[in-house]
Amino acid sequence: MKLHRSFFSLYFLVITTFIIFSWLLDEVWSSYLEQDIESYTGYKTMLLAVGDFIEQRPQEEWQEIIKTTSTRYQLPLSLMPANEFEKLEHAEHQHLQKDNIHVYYYDDEVTIHHVLGDSGMVLNLGPAKMPTRPRVEALIRVVILATFGILLFIWLRPVSRDLDQLKKAAADFGQGNFKRRAPNAKSAMMAGMVRSFNMMAERIKRLIEAHKELSNAVSHELRTPLARSKFALQMLATTKDEEKKAKYINQINGDIVELEELINEMLIYAAFDSDKPDLNIISYQISDLINHQIANHSQFDGDIEFINNTNNLTVDCDNHFIDRALNNFINNAIKYGGGKVRITLSENENNKGQNECVISIEDNGDGVSDDFKKIIFDAFSRGDQSRNRETGGFGLGLAIVARIMEWHQGTAKVSDSSLGGATFTLIWPIKQVSVH
Ligand SMILES: Nc1ncnc2c1ncn2[C@@H]1O[C@H](COP(=O)(O)OP(=O)(O)OP(=O)(O)O)[C@@H](O)[C@H]1O
Ligand SMILES: [Mg+2]
Repeated sequence: MKLHRSFFSLYFLVITTFIIFSWLLDEVWSSYLEQDIESYTGYKTMLLAVGDFIEQRPQEEWQEIIKTTSTRYQLPLSLMPANEFEKLEHAEHQHLQKDNIHVYYYDDEVTIHHVLGDSGMVLNLGPAKMPTRPRVEALIRVVILATFGILLFIWLRPVSRDLDQLKKAAADFGQGNFKRRAPNAKSAMMAGMVRSFNMMAERIKRLIEAHKELSNAVSHELRTPLARSKFALQMLATTKDEEKKAKYINQINGDIVELEELINEMLIYAAFDSDKPDLNIISYQISDLINHQIANHSQFDGDIEFINNTNNLTVDCDNHFIDRALNNFINNAIKYGGGKVRITLSENENNKGQNECVISIEDNGDGVSDDFKKIIFDAFSRGDQSRNRETGGFGLGLAIVARIMEWHQGTAKVSDSSLGGATFTLIWPIKQVSVH
């Protein structure tokens, strides 16, 4: 389990809050108590003095003395036997006990009991009103506590607001509003989550658009030969001319073949476009693959040059798929080039410190315009000149290459070539880490 920064920040916040809160509460409570105890010091001293005094007298006089003292000093003094004192219900009262003095206080009333030695008697004072003194210290602590509460509120508010907005955005997105994004997060803790959500939303939107484009392209591709055949069939029904009839039949045959091809290509592409297959990754001497491809294209009139900048480089890959990707690139270079093809194999260290295998295929054709470069790897994207059937193809070759590179955690790129045409490049890490 990997613990992330946001986890720690939340964890420490909760822990610190808990500690500070309990500490402050404790402080407030004990300072409140201290004040009370201090307030009783006067009473306590008096009680002790009275106790000391009567203890020097015979016990029979005690009641009398207490009675007179009580009236003289207007104090709620009384005497009671110790066994009665033990029966007193003080349970719900706060209790402080020190030596033979017991202080019970409740709200603003206090009762103090003084156990008189071994005499079995207890001297009582109270219940008396508690003298009120400003509890400055307690007040300060309450203020600190409140400030802390406010600070916490200020800190948590943006987090909860961000969460709320994220929730709304997610709900909205779920309802089919694919343009919806969560607004930028106010709190650092939520920023990452909001960014990930927006990235995910963007990707889903793109995928949906790609699917729409794909089905549009497919229906367009199907419609053209169908419309042609329909027209040819109508003409066939009306014409008497045998030569024309043969021409229309020919046309219909051609269109049927084209439809068949399109469907086959579509099926191949659909297989590539679905989930990642189980790759059969092995360490492979990559120059062998390239040489094999060059041999396969030996019927090609132009010349294919191979520059190997590596020393018997072996690379992790599914050679079957890499072979296919190379084949698609080389076919294009022959089809859209001017008779010259250059293949370069090199090794490169990327910015993550990984070693990559780089294969580039250049040609001396017309190249690819900057606008077209952006969509050239999308399914069904074809350049103007290849729109006509002469160059064949449905614009799926490069889309398949892009998929194959994705499966190898690599990329397929297009750029210009010093030969005058385009450079198509395959790049993927030499060591394939399994991502299961
Ligand atoms: N080497 C190249 N030079 C110039 N344009 C190219 C080159 N390679 C590809 N293109 C352009 O990119 C388009 C897409 O290529 P892609 O290989 O995907 O499809 P395709 O060759 O038209 O058909 P297929 O599905 O049979 O491969 C091509 O139609 C062509 O216009
Ligand atoms: Mg192609």
